[in-house]
Amino acid sequence: VIVIPTPRLAKSADAQGIAEMSREYIEHGLGWSWTPARVLHAIHDKSTNVAVIHAQGCVIGFGIMLYGEQTAHLALLAIHPTQRQHGLATCLLAWLETCADTAGLERIHVEARSDNPAALAFYQKQGYKQIGTMPGYYSGMLDAIRFEKRLWTQSESHKQDF
Ligand SMILES: CC(C)(COP(=O)(O)OP(=O)(O)OC[C@H]1O[C@@H](n2cnc3c(N)ncnc32)[C@H](O)[C@@H]1OP(=O)(O)O)[C@@H](O)C(=O)NCCC(=O)NCCS
Repeated sequence: VIVIPTPRLAKSADAQGIAEMSREYIEHGLGWSWTPARVLHAIHDKSTNVAVIHAQGCVIGFGIMLYGEQTAHLALLAIHPTQRQHGLATCLLAWLETCADTAGLERIHVEARSDNPAALAFYQKQGYKQIGTMPGYYSGMLDAIRFEKRLWTQSESHKQDF
């Protein structure tokens, strides 16, 4: 039986580990934009949640979501290679999505590298729909596939009743 640890909000001390995972597992071949300083800024930003899962004191998975007025944007999500395909990313994403849903946001956007079949399959499995391609989105070198998940539609809104 695999017990999935509950995600929690990242602390300042997690910034280095998260940034290193971004460099190795997300930004490889593109240059390092999510440096420890940028991750630290995200951790302290009131409109951003940085969620982490730890094992034996190390970050083994994390996700970063930015929350706007209507839309949330999943900026980064990664699981350590030895811990993949045990549902950890599903768990982290559900945690981040619940925050967006609770805040009444309409939809979530995410981009994935076109050379990353695992991520493309993952987002489809999580109910994200492909809504476009962004040529050269990553440093002008690599295309992004853009996905969207709608949390609710106008017709479902109960807010209009009040
Ligand atoms: C994409 C990633 C986050 C998935 O993490 P994970 O913890 O392995 O994902 P889960 O175990 O929750 O997988 C859920 C579903 O996603 C799909 N999926 C995940 N990895 C897959 C793979 N390598 N190939 C095909 N489908 C995959 C499957 O449908 C899976 O469901 P199943 O286990 O019932 O088949 C992980 O592979 C990763 O960190 N990759 C490197 C970083 C990255 O690409 N991040 C996303 C873009 S920012």
